[in-house]
Amino acid sequence: MEKLAIMGGAPVRQTRISYGHQFIDEKDIEAVVRVLKSDYLTCGPEIEKLERKLCKLTGAKYAVALSNGTAALHGACYAAGIKKGDEVITTPITFVASANCALYCGAVPVFADINEETFNIDPERIAEKVTPKTRAVVAVDYTGQAVELDKIREICHRKGLVLIEDGAHSIGTMYKGIPVGRIADMTTFSFHPVKTVTGGEGGAVLTNDEEYYKRLLLFRTHGITREPGLMNGLSSGDWYYQQIDLGYNYRMTDIQAALISSQLDKLPLFKRRRQEIVKRYDEAFDGMQGIILQKEIKESDTVRHLYILRLDLEALNASRKDIFNALKAENIFCNVHYIPVYYFEYYQKLGYNKGICPKAERLYEQIITLPLYFSMTDEDVESVISGVKKVLGYYRK
Ligand SMILES: Cc1ncc(COP(=O)(O)O)c(C=O)c1O
Repeated sequence: MEKLAIMGGAPVRQTRISYGHQFIDEKDIEAVVRVLKSDYLTCGPEIEKLERKLCKLTGAKYAVALSNGTAALHGACYAAGIKKGDEVITTPITFVASANCALYCGAVPVFADINEETFNIDPERIAEKVTPKTRAVVAVDYTGQAVELDKIREICHRKGLVLIEDGAHSIGTMYKGIPVGRIADMTTFSFHPVKTVTGGEGGAVLTNDEEYYKRLLLFRTHGITREPGLMNGLSSGDWYYQQIDLGYNYRMTDIQAALISSQLDKLPLFKRRRQEIVKRYDEAFDGMQGIILQKEIKESDTVRHLYILRLDLEALNASRKDIFNALKAENIFCNVHYIPVYYFEYYQKLGYNKGICPKAERLYEQIITLPLYFSMTDEDVESVISGVKKVLGYYRK
């Protein structure tokens, strides 16, 4: 508020705008109500319907719906056979789940630095971190932009590693014309409300590998099976099942599945609008002193989940926090994605030191996430641009 007074004038917006918001229409509501009136709230037909839809969307052979994106990552690590003592390489610029999934399996997350232009994990840094203990790479499509899949796949193939693509941000994105979900050994999605497609909560793993698929099905329901081929001995009757491994209750409800299915019908619309907004932001900010644009690789046709404003702090008389707070005073409520995972106390106590990924750490100091969601009006977009111009104009050296 102090900054508002210094800058003078009223805020550029009368009402608050947040960095993300879900879009729910009448069709979504009808889909949920239909399930509520049906016989199955969970373990019902909506789950398979959603899984078929995800396969159709991505071209992957198999999809397994789970309770959230974190469960999907945990399931992917389980299916890949990751165990105590293994190492899993990932980026520090992500939500903690991308690294926690390795810890859940007793493995050690190893952080590889990012490419300073795309903000995604750098394939060369991955190659440097591979040891005889490395079992997998969790490559995060940060902001929705696909990672450099060809290079990462080549490293994984050469070193015998499983490639898990964390596509929590990237549903609908294409890499070289191929949908995310069909390329990596396993790809995970999240359907959290700020994501492009939501189910309130929800997640999925996509794969072309039947063995991974079968292991994921077991993992999702306690390690329990009714498959005669998987059971030890003969079935005692229709009620019979066996627990053959330790799994979890990571099931999605039919209520979530129906909402996600209905949302997926709007994905082409969501994609178009998100791309329009990103284009408008890029045009407005390109060449503006104090801003560095995120580079997009030509291979990625991106459905952008997050718009990152990277500040060139050397050109500004302000810290990131000053800019963040000044935008808040303009009623533009931003966020920051992400604090490097190993900065958190839990990771520090595990022995991770600051300084291991200098480019990621530098990026973290400079970034602010601007509002980006389907239902933003053109007026909303323009007021965010005006707010950024006003604040940076004030602080420019
Ligand atoms: C990159 C990334 N991975 C994984 C997750 C975990 O997804 P969920 O919140 O659905 O568990 C998120 C969610 O915020 C994410 O952003």
